[in-house]
Amino acid sequence: MMNLILMGPPGAGKGTQSKLLSERFLISQVSTGDILRANVKDKTPLGQEAREYMNRGALVPDKLVLEMVVERLSRGNCSNGFILDGFPRNVPQAEALDGMLKEGKKGIDAVIGIEVEKRELIRRLSGRRVCRTCAAAYHVMFNPPVNIDTCDKCGKELYQRDDDKEETVDARLKVYDSETVPVVEYYRSRGLYMAVNGIGSVDQITEAIVKAIGKGRGHT
Ligand code: AP5
Ligand code: MG
Repeated sequence: MMNLILMGPPGAGKGTQSKLLSERFLISQVSTGDILRANVKDKTPLGQEAREYMNRGALVPDKLVLEMVVERLSRGNCSNGFILDGFPRNVPQAEALDGMLKEGKKGIDAVIGIEVEKRELIRRLSGRRVCRTCAAAYHVMFNPPVNIDTCDKCGKELYQRDDDKEETVDARLKVYDSETVPVVEYYRSRGLYMAVNGIGSVDQITEAIVKAIGKGRGHT
């Protein structure tokens, strides 16, 4: 049983790493971005409301996101543990998460922040391709799929996210600085936050995260 939070700016590798970590530790990956995109794709009421915020790089209102997270964390497959990717993204969400966990008598074992500088983030986002079906992420140069428009894992179509356009990327990076950086401080002051260098191969970064989790758990 292990509950983790993976933080980091847009393009840092949260999705890439949390998929690998969820397979390694047999815990559920909970990506608020992936859940929201699935709702947009299926044109659910939530998706229709969230779409406009996502396309301009703004945060989707807390009320919608929190309802979604409460529902997701209450599912049976999270009882073994979970890894949160893209949540919490502002201090009110972090406080709400604390409330949810307290109610379920659960805690967070570690908060890992993947650190990558802005120029590299822009390179990663501009070349990203994502699977419409399983949400696996590729990069045209750094992590190319075998066939340029097909997912290696499930064989379905790859696409470029609407919010990976240059203007939207800029807005997302600003929102990260103003809304999400305070969450780093929130967890640092509680002794849970550990930074990991996000530059290197995908495997090197996974190992650095696993090492950091080990250290963090040793302290508790
Ligand atoms: P979300 O989907 O969470 O997007 P994000 O935080 O902007 O992060 P990304 O998914 O863009 O990046 P990532 O860190 O997952 O990187 P990845 O592994 O793909 O959120 C999208 C939107 O949804 C938000 O703007 C907001 O509107 C809404 N939303 C979501 N959660 C919300 C919340 N809690 N509250 C309110 N609104 C919310 O990697 C990026 C690229 O780099 C890929 O191409 C990958 O192949 C490549 N790459 C990965 N690792 C490496 C490496 N080591 N070296 C080189 N390339 C690499
Ligand atoms: Mg992601």
